[in-house]
Amino acid sequence: MVHGDTICNWHVDTLHGGDTISNWQIGYAIAPMVARGIMLGPDQPVILHLLDIEHAAESLNGIRMELTDAAFPLLKGVVATTDVVEACKDVNIAVMLGGSPQKEITLRKDMLSTNASIYKAQALILEEHAAADCKVSVVPNPANTNALILKQFAPSIPKENITCLTRLDHNRALGQIADRLKVHVSDVKNVIIWGNHSTTEYLEVNHATFTTRNGERPVREHVADDHWLKTEFITTMQQRGVAIIKARKASSAFSAAIAACDHIRDWVFGTPKGTWVSMGVYSDGSYGIPPRLIYSFPVKCEKGKWSIVQGLKIDEYSRAMMDATAKELIEKKSLAKSCLE
Ligand code: LMR
Repeated sequence: MVHGDTICNWHVDTLHGGDTISNWQIGYAIAPMVARGIMLGPDQPVILHLLDIEHAAESLNGIRMELTDAAFPLLKGVVATTDVVEACKDVNIAVMLGGSPQKEITLRKDMLSTNASIYKAQALILEEHAAADCKVSVVPNPANTNALILKQFAPSIPKENITCLTRLDHNRALGQIADRLKVHVSDVKNVIIWGNHSTTEYLEVNHATFTTRNGERPVREHVADDHWLKTEFITTMQQRGVAIIKARKASSAFSAAIAACDHIRDWVFGTPKGTWVSMGVYSDGSYGIPPRLIYSFPVKCEKGKWSIVQGLKIDEYSRAMMDATAKELIEKKSLAKSCLE
């Protein structure tokens, strides 16, 4: 169980009204989910901390009013504030949604630099004011690098408590495989997202299975089309976020919010037996991935702790793909470091 009952929903968004690509939408989607028990279950009371920047104070107040109006039985309090310290005070779970969206900043380096400063500032406050056991999940891009910066500047938060979200990609992959095999998504498990939440992420199904009346079957054998798995499947998934932005004129919102709830719920309560999920976690060198990166691995969770699934066979193709996404993370890490110097 979580110790206490507080959620911090960070939201530092540089966009103003009228702009549609916004992490604000994830915040708006996730607040009622948490209040309804989707993240922490039907027995866990919660106090929601909602943070926004000054110019959005009025709309934040509107959300506070809606949360009251929805009469959530589990919601024991709402702290809707533009004061970062107040937002972070004693939180047990921090879902980081703040960041500069890509649309506003065209240069990769500028985006990294803006987000590096945001994540450094937020880390310093979390470090000082969050609960000692605070679990953190970073959502906005570049999620892995933002999480790494946060880890660097919040050294007293245990490194294993700082993660980034790749569960959205994991859920997307389950959905695509279910479509392809014409089975229900809940029957598919153990896909893997390796590496960076970006266009280099590697989606692997070599160990994935799906349930049939006659037991579990390997996904790869039943898809029976390695070419599709190595091409269309991967590229569709790598570009899914962009495709949604094009279609909706806004980033994924409720699917990201659900993924963030799934990420925290499984982390806190554990993954079902025989099942793993993907999480961006601090690399310990497993599978030859350089340590000291936040890299997405297959993880199992138990009693509030994740552990990287060990011993999976990695073929030559996977090796190359896993290394390529690690290489991108190393480059981003050094770019972020130079931005913060
Ligand atoms: C997603 O995968 O939906 C997002 O990372 C896309 C984005 O750039 O907001």
